[in-house]
Amino acid sequence: MARRKKVYEGKAKILYEGPEPGTLVQYFKDDATAFNAEKKDVIEGKGVLNNRLSEFFMNGLNAVGVPTHFLKRLNMREQLIRSCEIIPLEVIVRNVAAGTMSKRLGIPEGERLPRPIIEFCLKDDNLGDPLVAEEHIIAFGWASQQDLDDMIALALRVNDFMCGVMYGVGIRLVDFKIEIGRVWEGDFQRLVIADEISPDSCRLWDIETNEKLDKDVFRRDLGSLTDAYTEVARRLGVMPANSAPLGKPTLVN
Ligand code: C5P
Repeated sequence: MARRKKVYEGKAKILYEGPEPGTLVQYFKDDATAFNAEKKDVIEGKGVLNNRLSEFFMNGLNAVGVPTHFLKRLNMREQLIRSCEIIPLEVIVRNVAAGTMSKRLGIPEGERLPRPIIEFCLKDDNLGDPLVAEEHIIAFGWASQQDLDDMIALALRVNDFMCGVMYGVGIRLVDFKIEIGRVWEGDFQRLVIADEISPDSCRLWDIETNEKLDKDVFRRDLGSLTDAYTEVARRLGVMPANSAPLGKPTLVN
């Protein structure tokens, strides 16, 4: 079989050239990193779970008319996506105070915010993805005012969809990060949700117990990350079908 051309390798995913022009294959690795890769580990099964969960969320978004780069899942670790030009900003939506917002502003973790708050961070590992103001984005040309308006509208639609889906399975969507890309259709550009949506990029707390079911389990050494992600997948009914169980083996008599 011909070797595929690697287009990009990130901390948790690899992009390969796709089978047709304008497509890419997105491969989910088991690597986990936190604090700008200061903390690292390989967590067996994480890539498989994130591939399935991201497929689930992106399919749902496509179905309700929020455009994404997702085309189809190819196998346990890979999905076919539309190639797009990633806008160099991380878009964070927060419903409940947590993480860097709590640290920066002294708001206790868990305090419900008066409305969803959107933040932008510049995608630059060397700078530690700093928070930037809309003024910076426009002045430095990372996105236009029209892009920004469209990004905010998209982010709020993703938030409404994700909050509803997660609420339905007893999970509070505390916050999440998305990336947005441009696709060109003739002379027109359209913005689409890109990258991934998974427990790596969201904070998910059990509504009853506030148990963390997301990457904070790894960041804060709170237990098994695969158990947490498997619980999210189980509640959503997207457990990998024909894969080996990720937990302990069970004896069959
Ligand atoms: O760390 P912070 O509180 O700013 O993170 C907000 C949300 O964005 C969290 O859900 C976190 O998982 C996500 N995030 C991410 N990738 C980053 C930074 C934050 O997925 N580089």
